[in-house]
Amino acid sequence: MLKRNEICWCESDKKYKHCHLKHDEKLNNLRLKGYPIPQKRLILNQKDINGVKKACQLTAHLLNKLSEIINEGVSTQEINDWVHQETMKAGAKPAPLNYKGFPKSICTSINEVICHGIPSERILKNGDILNVDITCILDGYYGDSCRMYEIGEVSSEHKQLIKITKECLMKGIEAVKPFQSISVIGEAIEDHAKKYNYGVVDIFGGHGIGLNFHEDPFIYHCKQKQKQMIMVPNMIFTIEPMINEGTPKAKILKDGWTAVTKDKRYSAQWEHTILVTEKGSEVLTRYDDQL
Ligand code: MF3
Ligand code: CO
Ligand code: CO
Repeated sequence: MLKRNEICWCESDKKYKHCHLKHDEKLNNLRLKGYPIPQKRLILNQKDINGVKKACQLTAHLLNKLSEIINEGVSTQEINDWVHQETMKAGAKPAPLNYKGFPKSICTSINEVICHGIPSERILKNGDILNVDITCILDGYYGDSCRMYEIGEVSSEHKQLIKITKECLMKGIEAVKPFQSISVIGEAIEDHAKKYNYGVVDIFGGHGIGLNFHEDPFIYHCKQKQKQMIMVPNMIFTIEPMINEGTPKAKILKDGWTAVTKDKRYSAQWEHTILVTEKGSEVLTRYDDQL
């Protein structure tokens, strides 16, 4: 336990009583009520936050530029190669490449693919819905985001799935408040998806991120019985709901990565990297024309 006049643990050089003392008292009360409290390594200092912001801006910029490249007749391998080159040109690295054996630089998930689709020679065709998920590592910091692209004329049902999934992400983000449990995120997302009878995928979730690709906490996109971790200013994590037209059930293909819906109906996903602030949150992967 730090004394009131000692220097705070957070590297601010301020006295504890003028810095994190009040926060820590609040957290102690919540701990006594049974909520998990984030470890100190999950609360980033200003230098690291600035580093993550830069990585997130690059990721957002690439996703934005991709809308000019993604079209009928383009293969997902070409999209992969473009992102790989641009990432390297920016002095960064694509995090997925060789991550736990993942063979490519981005994930491309088409139609019934929920997530972790592997870029290939498959050609995009009219009516396809595509998710591209990019994570850049810049100066050792990670920025993770994904979004949907419509290829040519997409049916009104699938347009709605894409739109409501994006709304689910935004509702999840709006629920982020310091000293609340992260369970409010999944509650907001599930409530919205249920209005449309959509299935919320529960085998994948959002994750802490910043100095590592996948960190604590695990961010559920649906309701949970157990008490979830408390959000604290300067934590960074992703929210990335995967919403299915039909059953939330998933199946992993033989390649060990590609997750598809069990009923072959379509699935959509949107993802942002989020910084918890004193008032709520800041979207670090936001791009001007996005959301
Ligand atoms: N970017 C994905 C996420 O949002 C993770 C992809 S892991 C990979 O967490 F190995 F498939 F790239
Ligand atoms: Co992610
Ligand atoms: Co991602």
